[in-house]
This record gives sequence, C-alpha cells and structure tokens, in this order.
Amino acid sequence: MSSFPISRLRRLRRTDALRALVRETALGLDRLVMPLFVCPGEGVVNPVEGLPAIAQLSVDELVREAGELQALGVRTVLLFGIPEEKDEHGSGAWEDDGIVQRALRALRAETPGLTLITDVCLCEYTSHGHCGVLRDGEVANDETIELLARAAASHVEAGADAVAPSDMMDGRVGAIRAVLPDTPIVSYAAKYASAFYGPFREVAESAPAFGDRRGYQMDPANVREALRECALDLEEGADVLMVKPALPYLDVVRAARERFDCPVWAYNVSGEYAMVKAAAAAGHLDERAAALESLTAIRRAGAEVVVTYWTKEFARWL
Ligand code: PBG
Repeated sequence: MSSFPISRLRRLRRTDALRALVRETALGLDRLVMPLFVCPGEGVVNPVEGLPAIAQLSVDELVREAGELQALGVRTVLLFGIPEEKDEHGSGAWEDDGIVQRALRALRAETPGLTLITDVCLCEYTSHGHCGVLRDGEVANDETIELLARAAASHVEAGADAVAPSDMMDGRVGAIRAVLPDTPIVSYAAKYASAFYGPFREVAESAPAFGDRRGYQMDPANVREALRECALDLEEGADVLMVKPALPYLDVVRAARERFDCPVWAYNVSGEYAMVKAAAAAGHLDERAAALESLTAIRRAGAEVVVTYWTKEFARWL
C-alpha cells in the first residue's frame, strides 16, 4: 500500500455521491424494529415523560399506529403489554384474552403483512415487578420458565410471528422451544442489568418493587459470560441472538457477530434514546444526526437489525 503523497484518503470523501459509493454500512427500514406498548381501554394515548414521542396505546390506537407505521414502510414491531391487573404470578402474561393477545388478534386482522414480535417476560405482569415468580424473596428459575413458555405459546396462538424472551432465566429458550418447534425465537441472549432501562420501566410500569435485577440480568463488566449465554441459547434452539443495551455494549455485539453464524441483533434501549432526546431538546445536539450516527454505529459493530424507538422518525426522515 502506498503512503502519502500518493495515498490521499480524502479523494473518496469529496462528494456525497463518492461517499455513498464507498459507504460500508447501510441503514434501511427493513433493518429496524419499532417497539410498541399496548394498554387497556379505548381511545387511550398515554404519553410518557421519560420517553418522548412514545405512548401507551389502547388496542384501537395501537391498530391505528401500526397502520401508520406500515404506510411509512416499517415492517416489524415488537409488542409489550401493560395489563389491567397484576398478580404475584404474572398470570396476565398468558391469558387467552390478555392485553397482548387481544392486540395480536387485532393487528393480525387489521395490519396483515406487518411482522409481529412479542416480548416474553413477566415483569409487566407481576405485582412485584420482577421478571419471574418469587420463592423466598428470589426469582424461582425453573418455575418461571414454564410460565414463560405458556406466555410464548399464547402469543403464537394469538398471531405472533416470533417471540423474544427478555427475562434472562436459565433454560427459558429451551422451555419455549419445547412447546413451539416452528416459531422463530429472538433471544435477548446477552441482556445486562443496565441503568439505561429507566424510561422503559416508566412506560411499561415494570420497575421492581424491591431490589434489582442483578440476580438474573448480566453484570456490565462481563463479555466472555455473554458469549456463554449466546452459546447456550443457540443450543436450546434460539434463532436470533440479541444484545441489550446497544451503544455501551458494542464490543459485545462485535464479539457475538464474530463468534456465531446466526443473526445478531441489538436493542438500542430507552435510556440511549432518551439521552439524545433530552440533549436535543436542550439545544445541545442535532437529534437526527445523533440518531443516525448511533444506529449506523450499532450496525457497523455487527448488528444486522436494531430495535429502536427511532424507527418511526427514521421512516419520516427517509
Ligand atoms: C423486560 C424488558 C425490559 C426492556 C425490554 N424488555 C426492561 C427490564 O429488563 O427491566 C428494556 C427496554 C428499554 O429500556 O428500552 N424485562
């Protein structure tokens, strides 16, 4: 390779057209997934302070929003439910007429062609806000994974195209795979006990009533452990590995991408989005530029798909 003055890397940066020709990472709507939150009632659009431009939506409003997304070219949504009532076991998660199940049936009928992925977890449905059932003050793993499998099966019965377990119990992918041999499982394989979930817990009403999630979610200090989580999930039958959060964990995305041949996705979580929104609202940065740079960086690190609250705005920016 020649060096300066023969080599001048600025030559390929001279125009928009040249820069586009040599761009290594593309960002398209087919690679973004929009999270949506469904709640009880009718005509409910309940915005959340911590998560600008995102709202809890009743089923009718969800259907309207999904139609708008589809018209903008969005192809995939990730559904979260906020139930009428919570109990110790999170039974709202698997009820046949639970909030997500009703939403799925409505979306199936009204927005055919939209790919529907459901988040599978108990934290939105338990009165204590933990991701599983409690025994002696601890989340009981083996009992919980049976309930998660039940929830996942009821989502598929109601029309989900794929399920995404986000609870971080051991063996949950295997438990779900046992009852759903044909359903794609997008596993939140490397999900960290992160401070960046704050705004999500506001919108999903899922903050733990006591303690924290460090007994099941991963320690932010670890990356080798993330690869073990990924390997186990693949053995249990996961189709897609997801890393979460995204920006503070790009090394984990890269490591998973290099080690495994399956699709690797990343979740650009609520706190990552809210930080940019807040800085932009205060006039400190350009939201659109910062968002596009963030999403490009996540893709460049090795994530094929990014779950992001910017999906709808991205569709408008195109
Ligand atoms: C449920 C779940 C969480 C997120 C996705 N699924 C929160 C948590 O683990 O407390 C976070 C998503 C975000 O912050 O955008 N377990």
